[in-house]
Amino acid sequence: MKDNQILNDIRKHTKEKLTEEYSGHDWYHILRVINLSEKIAEKENANKLHVYLIALMHDLFDEKIFKIENKKEEFERFFIEYKLNEILSNEELDSICTDLLHLSFRGKFDNTKLSKEGKIVQDADRLDAVGAIGIARVFAYGGNKNKPIYIPTEVSKESGKDQISHFYVKLLNIKDNLNTKTAKELAEKRHHFLEEFLSNFYEEWDDVIDV
Ligand code: NI
Repeated sequence: MKDNQILNDIRKHTKEKLTEEYSGHDWYHILRVINLSEKIAEKENANKLHVYLIALMHDLFDEKIFKIENKKEEFERFFIEYKLNEILSNEELDSICTDLLHLSFRGKFDNTKLSKEGKIVQDADRLDAVGAIGIARVFAYGGNKNKPIYIPTEVSKESGKDQISHFYVKLLNIKDNLNTKTAKELAEKRHHFLEEFLSNFYEEWDDVIDV
């Protein structure tokens, strides 16, 4: 499947576009999401080409990373430029486009508009936001967006003013907001590591700073 020239071109473009991305959405994030998506898709009887393409393109026009006016138009133009209509029908392209527009976390968990394949990639993307890698990414994102690690005087844990609050807004809630059984299983260990990290973090912080 992946020997196809069209897929190779999209892969090459995505790799080039995201190689020097430093907010945690780099090319390795894409590769991890592809691998996790494929692992989940194995057990979910899904369309593997759709899963691969959605995973590959899911951060191409993300507003968190790029200045995007109209995401739908960007994807439609991209589909034409990369001749995706030669390997997919209009219905398939519409479905993939809808998935790409509604997959990511925008302050709330929402999977209502997604196809089965979109839900699989959403799970994979969310799994990459928890565990050791998720922790690395949350602070890379904070550094990239000039956000502090932690503000100990902040009353609300969900203030959004520091990166520790992102654990409470999103990361700790991921395990209960996954679509597939496979992803739920994969999330257990990663979730536990988040809790352990936070407990150590507060312990070390309390040791050195008197607020
Ligand atoms: Ni992503």
